Amino acid sequence: MNRAAPDPKQNMGKPEPRLEGRLKVTGEARYASDMPVNNPAFAFLITSPVAKGQITAIDLADAKAVPGVLDIFTHENTGDLKHLKYDPQGGGGSTSIQDFGPKIQHDGQIIGMVVADTYEAAREAAYKAKFEIATEKPSAGFHSEGVKEASPKKSEPKAGDAEKAFDDAAVKFEGWYGTPTQHHNPIELFTTTVAWNNDELTVYEPSQFMYGLKNSLASKVGVKPEKVRAISHFVGGAFGSKAQLTPRTGLVALAAKRLNRPVKLVATRDQGFTIATYRAETQHKIRIGAQRDGKITSFQHQGWELTSRPDAYAVGGVEDSARLYSFGAVKTDVKNVHADRNTPGFMRSPPVVPYIYALESAMDELAYQLKMDPVELRRVNDGMKDATGKEWSSRSLMQCYDEAAAAFGWSKRNAEPGSMRDGDWLIGWGCASAVYPTHMGPAAARVQFSADGQARVQIAAHEIGTGILTVVGQIAAERLGIPVENVRVEVGDSVLPPAPVAGGSTQTASCCSVVAKACDAINARLNANGGTPAPAPRETVGTGTGRNHEETFARLGVATLEEYAEQVPKEVKPNPVMGLVVDPMKKLYSGSSMLGGGSHAEKLMYALGAEFVEVRVHRLTREIRVPRIVGAFAAGRIMNTRTARSQYMGGMIWGISSALHEATEIDPRYARYTNDNLADYIIPVNADIQQLEVILVPEKDDLVNPVGVKGIGELANVGTAAAVANAVFHATGVRVRELPIRLEKLLTA
Ligand code: MOS
Repeated sequence: MNRAAPDPKQNMGKPEPRLEGRLKVTGEARYASDMPVNNPAFAFLITSPVAKGQITAIDLADAKAVPGVLDIFTHENTGDLKHLKYDPQGGGGSTSIQDFGPKIQHDGQIIGMVVADTYEAAREAAYKAKFEIATEKPSAGFHSEGVKEASPKKSEPKAGDAEKAFDDAAVKFEGWYGTPTQHHNPIELFTTTVAWNNDELTVYEPSQFMYGLKNSLASKVGVKPEKVRAISHFVGGAFGSKAQLTPRTGLVALAAKRLNRPVKLVATRDQGFTIATYRAETQHKIRIGAQRDGKITSFQHQGWELTSRPDAYAVGGVEDSARLYSFGAVKTDVKNVHADRNTPGFMRSPPVVPYIYALESAMDELAYQLKMDPVELRRVNDGMKDATGKEWSSRSLMQCYDEAAAAFGWSKRNAEPGSMRDGDWLIGWGCASAVYPTHMGPAAARVQFSADGQARVQIAAHEIGTGILTVVGQIAAERLGIPVENVRVEVGDSVLPPAPVAGGSTQTASCCSVVAKACDAINARLNANGGTPAPAPRETVGTGTGRNHEETFARLGVATLEEYAEQVPKEVKPNPVMGLVVDPMKKLYSGSSMLGGGSHAEKLMYALGAEFVEVRVHRLTREIRVPRIVGAFAAGRIMNTRTARSQYMGGMIWGISSALHEATEIDPRYARYTNDNLADYIIPVNADIQQLEVILVPEKDDLVNPVGVKGIGELANVGTAAAVANAVFHATGVRVRELPIRLEKLLTA
């Protein structure tokens, strides 16, 4: 097989090509704004040019005079929209800042929307709308005057007496780290199209959570959820930015209702930086106490995370950093810093990317201090229990290190910084761990199986590029004993049974588990009526061999059997909230996705990996290159080696981007993003990514969920930035503790 389709090893599925691959490469796949609606009007957003202030007057005369303009919406005529509860878990709004004025709380806040017969007319009018704003001086970031520190409600793991253990330690390390603001920038822009039919509305919007979109939009416009249908067959990238209801959606729905005509909005690339969420900047203080043999007796991690004035959004990655190794004692703390910025939100591996960057940089610094190989330092601190005594369900970290180190040639490394050279290029080799909690959410699915051996699977899951259609097709094929070509998979529509949010790397585990359950129910009915039993699920996921059920179906007197299944992972328990017991399945139907697993399950459930990076830094110019990267990952059962490799590859590339390229720059005087476009927001291009190797390490874990899948969507971009930073130190002797690592940071006297 070719590199894109690795041979399955133990507990891995075949590299089936993506079911939707042909649709995508032929342009047949319809994204939300491609969906045909009758006679649409076009919308263009008006956004605030200042970060803080009050709108004192609006003059729309020139804007309304633009030919083709149908109406203009501002805070003066949008009071019908309800205020949603801010709810970072989905179901509510992505931000509390949902009004379009008169109060302005961040730069780029939506303050109006023009709707016209053409996109061009709407855009022209948007630039002619005049807003008078009484401006106040905003606070932009951590070091600005006027920011407020507060404690978000976040779990802060603690075990033993970490301070005393630190004081008593033979070797002490202390370090500060920082990560910048980042924006997802999916290729598909933020779009919303709404069409009403009497009192019912259909919304076409790229979404990571169909039932969240349906229910939260219903609340926003004040209709019953059954009056809303949300459709999102394909999503052109999301990475966390399309998981929650953002303010634009209600506005488009209101406009379509008022005009009695479908309205289509495609926000611009620069608007995308302020009308949705982003990865907040973070700061970290790490303190580690260790024995001379490297055994860590004390780990302390304090994190600070930037957020908006009203919302306590925090990722709190100490939950994961505190458990990655068998620390003797741990103490953690998370703080929010509130500034005049839009509310941040999920971005690929939200808690772990910044917090594990800090931890894995500190591990490398400690290894140098101890004169120890960084891989051996991880080995000394590897173990099946965390500091609180909780056990891992499975843990293959050192297998990943060993496989990746061998493939990379780590044993040839000279540990001395600056010692490896090739002409004018300083060579650096570095490594770091990747880790991501294994989550799973409640899910429901419907499966039909017909006498002709064709199956149809219905689940409101999300094809955000991850391959959910394909892996759901594979699990149905495997359970029903039919070829994957015989399975039709329908996703991305709120009329289908609900799937959890396509976030937290939950989709494959949750959807495959419930689809397997529905298939098993069909098998049970067939077997009870004399059918040939389906082939037992095999170690290696394969496509089924032929099963002839015609006689069984004939005996049953039906052409098709249908089963609906629901599955609530055992870690997701009904919660006694204010005396009420909330059923997780009911919560899912009403647009709230409760996730179980990770550090909250009976055992610690995590996927793990190890990444090794070579960097080359030019002796004089300090230009930084990454000629090769090797990652090895273990994540339970791998459904499809092709889509898995693709996920890991994308993750590592993003990790390199985090390390060397990406940062949303902010003008501190105005709390305004200055590089809100794809020319100045720097991301890697093909020439930046050279050799990239993905190693799939076999692992079996039957505890995590019925299908043994850990989830991989967010694993591989964790740790990469630290591996690159560690390699840069090895090349140059310069330790950069604030991402991204740009060449000016490596200029030494
Ligand atoms: Mo992902 S950031 O959990 O969509």
